[in-house]
Amino acid sequence: MSRHQDARVSSEDDPGAPPARGRRAAGPVAGESGPVLLAMSGLTRVHGEGAAQVRALDEVDLQVRLGELVAVMGPSGSGKSTLLNLAGGLDTPTSGAVALAGEVISDLDARKRAALRRRKVGYVFQDFNLIPALTAAENVALPRELDGVPLRTARSEAIAALFEVGVDDLADRFPEEMSGGQQQRVAIARALAGPRRLVLADEPTGALDSVTGEAVMRVLRARVDAGAAGLLVTHEPRFAAWADRTIFLRDGRVVDATGDDAPEHLLSRSR
Ligand SMILES: Nc1ncnc2c1ncn2[C@@H]1O[C@H](COP(=O)(O)OP(=O)(O)OP(=O)(O)O)[C@@H](O)[C@H]1O
Ligand SMILES: [Mg+2]
Repeated sequence: MSRHQDARVSSEDDPGAPPARGRRAAGPVAGESGPVLLAMSGLTRVHGEGAAQVRALDEVDLQVRLGELVAVMGPSGSGKSTLLNLAGGLDTPTSGAVALAGEVISDLDARKRAALRRRKVGYVFQDFNLIPALTAAENVALPRELDGVPLRTARSEAIAALFEVGVDDLADRFPEEMSGGQQQRVAIARALAGPRRLVLADEPTGALDSVTGEAVMRVLRARVDAGAAGLLVTHEPRFAAWADRTIFLRDGRVVDATGDDAPEHLLSRSR
């Protein structure tokens, strides 16, 4: 069975082997090189002032194409979450630019960025960020409702996304009634509900056992193969192996990369 035929996560799933790095499935949109969805250039983010200044990201260039899943690895504090926050328009760069489908989002005001994010970006936060007073299904449906999708549509999209990650039976539970791994899967469902083109996932497998983690990777991979672009932060090489390529950050800089698009000087160092 191909990894596309049943992307649904269940506890019985055989995690299977990840595809060979760089291999792409012949999905409807996934080609050898889809159009660039996310383009970041000269991206720098400095936090704080004076002596307390931290250069969280330093002149990073990165492009992610439709049909492409890029893993981001690096030690704690190397700038991985900062990179995702900038990619999704949750934060603005000190210098440099972020473009989403050709639109420079780093120039937009906060309200326009939020609207664009709700429509185009699915975000799995490192700490889930579920709203405690809402059930799983309500949490997943909320961003879509805020974007003007009718309640019933948002609800059925939510149930479908919860099904995809294997927790549709928990639709009416509140976050505090779920395990960490279950909450994480609800957070992933929220990022996948509706037609989001860019999926940003900050350690989406951190609270999952290895079988569920692999199954979640299969769902992410299938979504990307079906015509989205993904940026995945992970500390685990076995999850990064699901990506088309991996970039390595240290002290806010890209210090290494794999795959066809890696700059020549980085490839020669990594091989
Ligand atoms: N709001 C902030 N104010 C000041 N410094 C910050 C802020 N956010 C991040 N930093 C600093 O920027 C650097 C990069 O942080 P970031 O959260 O991007 O790291 P990370 O690679 O995601 O780490 P982890 O693997 O621990 O999640 C760190 O030195 C961090 O302390
Ligand atoms: Mg982080």
